[in-house]
Amino acid sequence: MNFEELILKRQSDRQYDTSRPVEDEKLNKCIEAARLAPSACNAQPWKFIALRDPEIRAKVGQCAASMGMNKFCLDAPMLVVLVLEKPNLTSKIGSVLKNKEYTLIDVGITAAHFCLQATELGLGSCIVGWFDEKKIRKLLGIPSSKRIPLLICAGYPASPQRPKIRKDLEKIYSTDKY
Ligand SMILES: Cc1cc2nc3c(=O)[nH]c(=O)nc-3n(C[C@H](O)[C@H](O)[C@H](O)COP(=O)(O)O)c2cc1C
Repeated sequence: MNFEELILKRQSDRQYDTSRPVEDEKLNKCIEAARLAPSACNAQPWKFIALRDPEIRAKVGQCAASMGMNKFCLDAPMLVVLVLEKPNLTSKIGSVLKNKEYTLIDVGITAAHFCLQATELGLGSCIVGWFDEKKIRKLLGIPSSKRIPLLICAGYPASPQRPKIRKDLEKIYSTDKY
């Protein structure tokens, strides 16, 4: 798969073949791709917690499934919790001086690396930002000082490829002026 094909193939998969677990080797490759992602000042302000235990996974999945959202998290074959870690000093200073949340940008990029690698390995994935953070912190022993920006669901996809719905190019792109 070339890069263009990979970009087109990646989609938020919300249905998985629940009889087919994600192999450790594939999970490790996704984590490695995430580890190699760029970050402001190379701060790498992240930690990934892969939920291998089905019971814990289901409990965390329940924290994401509410108000009709994210039911697919209940039985996703793999759930990865992304914890925001403290950035290094230079990234922190840069964030303050430039009034930009570099760490949140960083976690978005690392999540994208994870998902693109998953796609390349034939896995489906979905980034999830809607969940009860407090409950997940408690379940996994994550200190209350730490934020959980995202979860990532993964598994072998059981839904067909969808066409991409995106804004038209002229809405999101211009040259030389706004
Ligand atoms: C930061 C972020 C949070 C998201 N949270 C959720 C979520 O809680 N539930 C969900 O079903 N999809 C979630 N998504 C997936 C988006 O809905 C999806 O990326 C978007 O609709 C584009 O579709 P595609 O990923 O299939 O191309 C999230 C995506 C991002 C980047």
